[in-house]
Amino acid sequence: MQYQLKDNGVAIITVERPDKLNALNEVVLNELSEVFQKVNGNQKIKGVIITGAGDKAFVAGADIKELQALDEHDGRMTSQKGQQIFQSIEDLRKPVIAAVNGYALGGGAELAMACHLRVASKKATFGLPEVGLGLIPGYGGTQRLPQIVGRGRALQMILTGEPVTAEEAHRMGLVNEISENALGRANELMERILGNAPLAVRNAIKAVFYSGSKQGFQVESDTFGRLCTTDDAHEGMAAFLAKREPNFKGE
Ligand code: COA
Repeated sequence: MQYQLKDNGVAIITVERPDKLNALNEVVLNELSEVFQKVNGNQKIKGVIITGAGDKAFVAGADIKELQALDEHDGRMTSQKGQQIFQSIEDLRKPVIAAVNGYALGGGAELAMACHLRVASKKATFGLPEVGLGLIPGYGGTQRLPQIVGRGRALQMILTGEPVTAEEAHRMGLVNEISENALGRANELMERILGNAPLAVRNAIKAVFYSGSKQGFQVESDTFGRLCTTDDAHEGMAAFLAKREPNFKGE
């Protein structure tokens, strides 16, 4: 895995195992886990972009060679470990964008789904082929895909195991945008997000993930109320009324 922190506070994480199409073996999963713990605790990091090394794959799934050796107990543990790591990505209160540059299959599609936004290159493909291996998606795919694209489309992808093109993924809302240069576009979107009030961005991510739950509206209004008293909200509204650019401080 490669990790780069840019001057603007954006961390670029590149899954790098090109001879195996960046498949997630235990080593890579552990690296992902560690890097997201670091990202969470590092105030200098404002947002994260995840991509895959090379021009063929984002991540072609969990490492099938490792899966082959699992018994029931280890299989459950492996699934739970992947779920926890991907949950830590979704739970990060800094924007996370997947720049999907090629195959996003199995655990790779699930990794992309755990990110807050997904930008795909034209040649990207998304799929959950696990049933063809005698398995089911185990890193959150059976839960996140229906939330993103609806149950019918999710079941079609999961039951057929057939991949969808970037265009199809875009049409069903699995991908936010398609771009000739997914990483470049992900950087542009990130810049745009980071130009907004940091506390508002952080809390917007949190509130959106309560959608569908009973507390969602309560979380929204509590958060809205708290944000009303922040310096950045005072600055943002004053700047609008004075017809000038806001100067946010994250306070
Ligand atoms: N786990 C382990 N190894 C994988 C892998 C995975 N998920 N995906 C690809 N690889 C390996 C291949 O075994 C091959 O290794 P080798 O060169 O030592 O034989 C190498 O990566 C290149 O893959 P290859 O299949 O030769 O490339 P391709 O262009 O012909 O096909 C894919 C690309 C993505 C269609 C094909 O690799 C594939 O179907 N991969 C598995 C996808 C999958 O089922 N993922 C879900 C896992 S739960």
